Amino acid sequence: GAVELGPYRHYMQKEIFEQPRVIADTLEGLEDITPALFDGAHPHQARAAAQVFAEIDSVLILACGSSYYSGCTAKYWLEAIAGIPTQVEVASEYRYRTSVPNPRSLVVAISQSGETADTLAALRHAQSLDMQHRLTICNVATSTMVRECPLAYITRAGVEIGVASTKAFTTQLAGLFLLTLALARSKGRLSQEQEAAHLQAMRHLPKALQAVLALEPQLISWAQDFARMENALFLGRGLHYPIALEGALKLKEISYIHAEAYPAGELKHGPLALVTSAMPVVTVAPNDALLEKLKSNMQEVRARAGTLYVLADADTCIESSAGLHVIRMPGHGGPLSPLLHVVPLQLLAYHTACVRGTDVDKPRNLAKSVTVE
Ligand code: G6P
Repeated sequence: GAVELGPYRHYMQKEIFEQPRVIADTLEGLEDITPALFDGAHPHQARAAAQVFAEIDSVLILACGSSYYSGCTAKYWLEAIAGIPTQVEVASEYRYRTSVPNPRSLVVAISQSGETADTLAALRHAQSLDMQHRLTICNVATSTMVRECPLAYITRAGVEIGVASTKAFTTQLAGLFLLTLALARSKGRLSQEQEAAHLQAMRHLPKALQAVLALEPQLISWAQDFARMENALFLGRGLHYPIALEGALKLKEISYIHAEAYPAGELKHGPLALVTSAMPVVTVAPNDALLEKLKSNMQEVRARAGTLYVLADADTCIESSAGLHVIRMPGHGGPLSPLLHVVPLQLLAYHTACVRGTDVDKPRNLAKSVTVE
């Protein structure tokens, strides 16, 4: 085909390893953050993004699958950095429920393909409710979603072939972070210095992602254990809760292992009852304000003989011991940390699926783009 596999065994593996490059492509030519980045190319564009951003008072994100989880991550950024109330909703739910429309809300549809039937229908539903401020974050410039949205941001992931999204997800996160900064600027919530610091952190991402990809051998070793399991639990807190959700989705999609993700604080309200030695618990544990709380969640798992697989930062004193496997992340991502922590989870799912011998690029019963309901 036009897209060659090169040294990789599957497109998914190739696409995981392309992430430093697609993020570098995303940043190319980016001098500063202006709303114009989101203007799109709509011929009947009534208002420029700058005008829309000044008018809106909230954000409503609509998406499916992995795109929904990138939206869930963005909610944390939009509220913490831009101070904008944000709601994230699965498109197939939003389109059929009676909701309270806010004409001052910015509707953001996130989609790799731009053709997902439920997301398109949800957008049209929002339009029918008189919500005129619509923006899509989409990987296909010629898609229906881009045509139908007055505003658009095209992610630069390039063609994604693996059914399970990887590089499209990280470029969505990059686009959503830029959207957060643009909205924060237009709401007067971000100084020039703060914006420059965030941009600087973004420019470091390709290198940081490269360092994370070098962890592959350690994830191959975790995958040997996971391939023998039938269930797995993923825990995260804050910004990394949606990353835990995405990690669990990756594992179930391609390795067919039942996996669920919980915000770690909810452990005691149900999933702790499932923890035994047959239930590996993946914990996304960056060194942030929630680390101490997360450590006590980890204690709860160890006390029940659960085996922990922890992604920890270098400067935390979480050490490997019996029943506790630690992989040290090479650097801090600050607010961009979700883009780094999702990568080992992609590699874990990928290598677990390889050990189990599944059809990684075309998992059973799933489609790359779900264009019918
Ligand atoms: C399918 C794919 C997923 C994707 C989802 C949403 O389920 O298998 O990888 O996240 O659709 O697709 P979209 O193109 O709208 O992002």
